[in-house]
Amino acid sequence: ASSTATSAPRTNSISPPSDLPLIPGTQPTRAPLDIFRTSVCVHINRAIPQLALEKIFDGVDILKKEADFTVAMPRFRLGGKPDIWAQKVVDAFVPDNYIESVRASSGFLYFQARTSTFTRKVLSIVDSEIHHTASGNPEYGTNNNGGGKLALIEYSAPNIAKEFHIGHLRSTIIGQFLVNLHQASGWKTLSVNYLGDWGKQFGLIAVGFEKYGSDEELQKDAIKHLYNVYVKINNDANQDESVHEEARAYFKRMEDGDESALKHWRLWRDLSIEKYRQEYARLNVSFDVYHGESQVGHESQDSAVARLEKMGLISDSEGAKIVDLEEWKLGKTVIWKKDGTSIYLTRDIGGAIERYEKYKFDKMIYVVSSQQDLHLQQFFKILSLLEYPWAERLQHVNYGLVQGMSTRKGTAVFLDDIIREASEIMHEQMKKNAAKYASVEDPEGTSREIGITAIKIQDLAAKRINNYTFNWSRMLSFEGDTGPYLQYAHVRLSSIARKNPDLLPLPEASKINTDKLTEPKAREILMFLASYPDVVRTAMDKLEPSGVVTFCFKLSHAISGAWEILIVKNEEDVEKAQARLWLFLTAKDVLGGAMRLLSLTPLERM
Ligand code: ARG
Repeated sequence: ASSTATSAPRTNSISPPSDLPLIPGTQPTRAPLDIFRTSVCVHINRAIPQLALEKIFDGVDILKKEADFTVAMPRFRLGGKPDIWAQKVVDAFVPDNYIESVRASSGFLYFQARTSTFTRKVLSIVDSEIHHTASGNPEYGTNNNGGGKLALIEYSAPNIAKEFHIGHLRSTIIGQFLVNLHQASGWKTLSVNYLGDWGKQFGLIAVGFEKYGSDEELQKDAIKHLYNVYVKINNDANQDESVHEEARAYFKRMEDGDESALKHWRLWRDLSIEKYRQEYARLNVSFDVYHGESQVGHESQDSAVARLEKMGLISDSEGAKIVDLEEWKLGKTVIWKKDGTSIYLTRDIGGAIERYEKYKFDKMIYVVSSQQDLHLQQFFKILSLLEYPWAERLQHVNYGLVQGMSTRKGTAVFLDDIIREASEIMHEQMKKNAAKYASVEDPEGTSREIGITAIKIQDLAAKRINNYTFNWSRMLSFEGDTGPYLQYAHVRLSSIARKNPDLLPLPEASKINTDKLTEPKAREILMFLASYPDVVRTAMDKLEPSGVVTFCFKLSHAISGAWEILIVKNEEDVEKAQARLWLFLTAKDVLGGAMRLLSLTPLERM
């Protein structure tokens, strides 16, 4: 909503260029590069009519060093020398409104966009998109490829009464990004937190609570208290086998639906969820549904196992049931325990069946660590053996390990400790600059936001499958590609409006003279802005956040190199100052949009 205050409200009144064909799947009114890429296609197609526009379009690369648009002719397999085909295109080329030049080299074609058209198109399209929604939220970069289909996305999934470890945090951060990304790609989403709220450990806690539990502590912080009880009773159990037995018996009563056994468990679960909700809220994370292993019905599990038995895939081993997936190189695994209580794998199978019945999803994503690759492969395989046609709609989005996570007090096991530590360190840092500190309205909230940004950026910056080492000082630094640096880049863009009140509100888009933006720096920024819809599409193809993070940093670097060149304040040519200010405000909106996609809250001051 920030930009609504600084410029006149606008509506999307962009129409597609009438002098270009509309290539299916492109968005010429919403993604400026699609216009120029279409023009490149027309130029190539004029020289090589047998190459269809759509086919060429997929071969037009952006953001390469050599030119605005690069086309590798060999990829079209036209027969003969690519050089000759490239030369044909150069010979037939006539400059137009969109593309001003082309050159050929070693079978590659290099096209340059006409700066005046490019600048105008990029800024007006982004502008119209930013002000498109009533909420003022940027629409720019989004698309409707999902066509309203439903994606169920399961993530976070901590275990009640156990630690919320950094692996759960990763799932939380990546999962929320995937929800935002699907929404930005025209999908409906249903976000699900699948709590580890069932299993023998609840029998242990029940036994432990009688010995070590306190209702007062439980009300204060259920997550920590239950964890402490769990640690203590686990200790006892390790010395005394009868504690284990008691726990098993208690859990059996829970499984059998004994209300007196379930009563406490229900309270622990409710109080834990309440606490989680608060912590997630600080992370801009929310769930449509809190589900849990406890809620998977017996019926769906029993019938799945019965059908596997009929198919001859089950064998008995000392009373337990084993499913044999050797044929698919997925090993053998227990699917039913000897005492009849269900297990993790079986609950996942039953859970998926129930979810499909209830939601009829078009796709279901599980954001779970790569340590559980085998588990997910097994359970997906079993569903496809059971011939559920929707089994192929299931996707495992996995991620690598985080090493070396600890806080100043020791090994962090709780989400709120991690957030608190990051906030405190940032707060200390902010206090060092007393003048600035005094100008920030809510220093505590601000430092917490920067700290959270630092954690998230560290987590999302590399390909998700990579492992990384948790490093407080690196991630909290203002130097390098860190969260604090990104927030700083956004804050600096915000400050430009505050520093130039005389130029605001800007005139309407058509009255801003974009031909005043002649510097290569301006063009570089515009190129990044123009590429954002592609960044979103690529992220969706790979379900990968790192490209969005890279985009944020590249854009921020380009902007930081522009401050000395694209001066706004004290620029005597008012038209020039307006055009530059428009560029910066647009850049701010795009950067802010990309940050929000990553679930960050872009700051206005810090
Ligand atoms: N609660 C599990 C754990 O902490 C993760 C659950 C992942 N989701 C699933 N459907 N299995 O390991």
